[in-house]
Amino acid sequence: MTRRKFIAGNWKMYTHLEQARELARGVRAGLDATLAAQVRVAVCPPFPWLLPVAEVLRGGPVALGAQDCHYEREGAFTGQVSPYMLREAGCQYVIIGHSERRHGLNESDEFLNKKLHGALQAGLYVIFCIGELLSEREAGQTEQVLYRQLTAGLAGLSANDLTAVTIAYEPVWAIGTGRVATEEQAQQAHAFIRQTLTEQFGTAAAQSVTIQYGGSVKPDNAAGLLRQPDVDGCLVGGASLKADSFLAIVRAAL
Ligand code: PGA
Repeated sequence: MTRRKFIAGNWKMYTHLEQARELARGVRAGLDATLAAQVRVAVCPPFPWLLPVAEVLRGGPVALGAQDCHYEREGAFTGQVSPYMLREAGCQYVIIGHSERRHGLNESDEFLNKKLHGALQAGLYVIFCIGELLSEREAGQTEQVLYRQLTAGLAGLSANDLTAVTIAYEPVWAIGTGRVATEEQAQQAHAFIRQTLTEQFGTAAAQSVTIQYGGSVKPDNAAGLLRQPDVDGCLVGGASLKADSFLAIVRAAL
């Protein structure tokens, strides 16, 4: 089964407005038609920059994503952003369950599951992040943690819903640390994720799912990771903040 590679940039809480525009212009300019035909590319700026970046990206091959959303369509939820608002702002994607929200903001599997349903209902494609802490890996609990995050996180989804979901495997100890997972560690976790999805949704659905690796992906380690049979793309943090390094990772997917 060939799955088209998918590289997404998570800009986190970085960039000023002009930098965000410039970065988006750079990514768009570097993604020529041949490259765009072979690799799916998205960038996820901070909320206030979604509209100006959408403006830059309009009509081009780079998709726009947000970094989080609420599960409701609208309501008295001060400070929250509805997935419908994201659609209206030009987003196709939303990241849900990033470790900086799971662990930094105590978002539970159940809460993230509600967000996932809300985002899918709004018509967004979801990048759903999972991954173990260093202490969990050292205690030999990696598969147990991934299993829980997948079963609780994707609860209530149909095989058809799954077609709009990308899983991002991001070992927490690799995020922003410069300590990338080895190709073997990534492949092993991705294969386990696909196996778990097979139990949940059946072989055809699980084979079609894009599973990205995230955590200290750089131009010099991307190709090796992307060569692994179950690594279908990358979710890139730090290296997505420069058009050159992000595009080098996109090219590594070829
Ligand atoms: P990093 O972040 O590439 O800076 O490690 C990845 C992520 O948090 O998605």
